[in-house]
Amino acid sequence: MFILGLQGSPRKAGNTNHLLETYLAAAAQRGAVTERIQVAQKDIRPCIGCTNCERKGFCSIRDDDMTKEVYGKLRRADVVVLATPIYFYNATAQLKTVIDRSQTLWARKYKLGLTDPGRPDRKGVLLAVGATKGKNLFEGMNLTAKYFFDAVGADFSTSLTYRHIEDIGDMEKNTAMIDDVNRAVAGLSPLLEREKILFVCRDNASRSQMAAVFTQYLAGAKIEALSAGISPAAKVDPVMEQVMAESGMDAAFRRPRLIDDVIAETPPDMVITMGCADDCPEIKGAQIEEWDLPDAAGRSEEEAMRYVRDEIEQRVKRLIGKF
Ligand SMILES: Cc1cc2nc3c(=O)[nH]c(=O)nc-3n(C[C@H](O)[C@H](O)[C@H](O)COP(=O)(O)O)c2cc1C
Repeated sequence: MFILGLQGSPRKAGNTNHLLETYLAAAAQRGAVTERIQVAQKDIRPCIGCTNCERKGFCSIRDDDMTKEVYGKLRRADVVVLATPIYFYNATAQLKTVIDRSQTLWARKYKLGLTDPGRPDRKGVLLAVGATKGKNLFEGMNLTAKYFFDAVGADFSTSLTYRHIEDIGDMEKNTAMIDDVNRAVAGLSPLLEREKILFVCRDNASRSQMAAVFTQYLAGAKIEALSAGISPAAKVDPVMEQVMAESGMDAAFRRPRLIDDVIAETPPDMVITMGCADDCPEIKGAQIEEWDLPDAAGRSEEEAMRYVRDEIEQRVKRLIGKF
């Protein structure tokens, strides 16, 4: 299970960072794969309101870290953690920039009608701190978080907020926080305990990606769907993205990954090879199954991809029936 933490304070080692690190460390101890992004250290430019995302599904700003890194990680995440100090009753400007740019993910769902396969099971967590004690201190942020999590396809399930936290070191002095974090992380057990199924093909550009997308969408509550390649391509096949979109599934922002890296992070319970059984490394303790997909020769590239997509969808439906 992958948890992405977005650290929104410009203070790299301030109160918000301490709270987020405590949360991520507790989750890692229970077996989660975690990553913290120090948002203020990234090159992320503000939304320019061009509506390109609403028309085409992609942000017109293509050369910054939001496009190169953050969209993909938001999509990969099973849990998205938004961590921020309160600045004028809301997130810091740096984090608000990320929030505004998530409009692309909102547009893919609400304007283009595409389904993010992670949406049914992804969780959203808000961690926030502020200096004052006012009753309404987190109201603005809670509302912004609610709509951000809807845009990125996450259920806003947890909010840990702390008042009277001002100077660096104040968060460390709050002894109740550790218990709050441990309780919150214990709530992730169902996601952590899912059966882990790894789909493997040669380049992780189309077949294993499609299998993981269908599995995640149809059975994400009980199966953690992973995919990898023996020799990963530089990017996923655009024809795969296109034919998945034709069936309503959003396979954008996915990246081919090397099998060794995926296994090192998350040892699978089951491995399904798709035409690469001979080259697949031995994976201790995992049940192995080979899917001998039918030959789509003689069809156009799109037709062949649709044929394989439909075959994979049927096999995934049979597979998940067993769990
Ligand atoms: C520009 C700015 C605006 C702030 N606005 C608020 C505010 O509206 N309410 C509040 O309680 N604290 C406010 N604070 C205080 C911070 O939320 C507080 O110091 C927090 O602990 C900083 O967390 P950090 O160490 O993670 O940066 C503000 C601080 C700054 C620098």
